[in-house]
Amino acid sequence: MNSQFPEAVGCPIQWAKCWDRRTDGIGYLPGIIRRLDYLSSLNVTALWLSPIYPSPMRDFGYDVADYTAIHPWFGTLDDFDRLLDAVHVRGLRLILDLVPNHTSDEHPWFVASRSSRDHPKRPWYIWRDPAPDGGPPNNWLSFFGGPAWTYDERTGQYYLHQFTRQQPELNYRHPEVLEAMLGAMRFWLERGVDGFRVDVVWLLMKDRDFRDEPLNPQWDGLKPHGRLQHIYTANLPETHDVVRTMRAVIDGYGDRLMVGEAYLPNPDLMRYYGRFLDECHLPMNFQLISSEWRAREVRRRVDAYEAALPPGAWPNWVLGNHDQPRLASRVGPEQGRVAAMLLLTLRGTPTWYYVDELGMQDVPIPVGQMKDPQALNQPEIADRMSRDPTRTPMPWDASPYGGFTGADAEPWLPLAEDYPTRNVEAQSRDGRSPLALFRALTALRQRTPALMIGDYRVPATPVPDDIFAYLRMLGEARILVVLNFGAGLHRLDFSAAARCGELLLCTGLDRFEPPDLRALVIRPNEGVIIRLAPGG
Ligand code: NOJ
Repeated sequence: MNSQFPEAVGCPIQWAKCWDRRTDGIGYLPGIIRRLDYLSSLNVTALWLSPIYPSPMRDFGYDVADYTAIHPWFGTLDDFDRLLDAVHVRGLRLILDLVPNHTSDEHPWFVASRSSRDHPKRPWYIWRDPAPDGGPPNNWLSFFGGPAWTYDERTGQYYLHQFTRQQPELNYRHPEVLEAMLGAMRFWLERGVDGFRVDVVWLLMKDRDFRDEPLNPQWDGLKPHGRLQHIYTANLPETHDVVRTMRAVIDGYGDRLMVGEAYLPNPDLMRYYGRFLDECHLPMNFQLISSEWRAREVRRRVDAYEAALPPGAWPNWVLGNHDQPRLASRVGPEQGRVAAMLLLTLRGTPTWYYVDELGMQDVPIPVGQMKDPQALNQPEIADRMSRDPTRTPMPWDASPYGGFTGADAEPWLPLAEDYPTRNVEAQSRDGRSPLALFRALTALRQRTPALMIGDYRVPATPVPDDIFAYLRMLGEARILVVLNFGAGLHRLDFSAAARCGELLLCTGLDRFEPPDLRALVIRPNEGVIIRLAPGG
């Protein structure tokens, strides 16, 4: 394994629903091929696709019915091979979503497992007898509301599912299950994919004794799933054996990447690198998503994460994904620019979610048009739970439906209201747009080794509460990043760090003067990147 790959990835972008120009409003692989020049223009180096496998789409592809084929909505295996070639020709990498924790209830494995208690595939899934009162075997909960168990009339047992009831969970205590999943991985690795983002990697193992989970005294009353402490359904020590085995398969194919989805606090998250760095290359670090958007809190999180990293582990940062509200809705449009600068100047592989580069906000989706099972299964809190607002089509231009589909085909979710002005074409013409800033940041990062692989350090200079300032350093090169999380103007004295410097970029893309390090002006909601003169 070439351990440089995670950094070489530079900035993977997650492309969920930006595939265009057909008549069914969904998007497909050939549409992505046509838009690859756009990806190249973003200077990102890898593309992660949400699941594209055959699926009844109860959870938009995260309910896989066949791990080694393409859903006809999205095209064919030939289309996939053409996409992979086109991605590689551009020097990009392609990462697939692997969903090993659960299948669709229409997957032939589950159909067989469900067919009788004696079927050899019965133990591939997690079946339990009812409790003495006939109810679910224990108190485990689904992330999507209600119990994590569904009763199967025909065979008289319950099966486990932590998401929709159409997503039964595989039993990784049965050796054939892992073998089957490794087979699916090999199928795609042999075709040439550059790696996997492994879905809910921290949930793969469950308590052998199926004990009830204790109540969570910290529960904020918001998400019903949070009512319990998930000590028997998440982050079990045995999970690491599975992850290590998967990584060994990936390593067998050379320079490939394993990214793991795990919403965990630092000490637990770090274990997913593996004791010998033999698990995930990048256990996803979601702290910037969950953080209160204040300079001090963000700095505290960055410092704590940096300090917790095991020796040799490469960091990573995530600002958005298909499960979370959009960046600009979370932090506000002005701070969206600061957040982009933060992500692209921190040490570690950044992950970006499509359309955030346009500064687009969540798109309100009326209850009647909601598609997300997390919302539909919990109607009383649907507004809060729906992930649809973050999954709407890519607005390419001002034409009907933003050029995502033809004018005659309504997209699967509505476009943002402001798409006639907030779209790729319009922002490409505007030298100060969020898109222009994103391109400038990624280009700067790619040509600046100190930003790519340099050390991270906070300078001794005291700064006001609203400011987060840090250095990225490689050899003689020192890059100073100063971010203003507030609405006030500040004059800061960085003369102890260097006598002079060169302003490389500011979030407004409108300052070019040499910076005065004795009285560096930082405007409200502004970030700047300065190359410090050597010495100092
Ligand atoms: C995590 C995925 O990111 C999410 O979209 C999905 O609903 C669940 N896993 C279940 O697969």
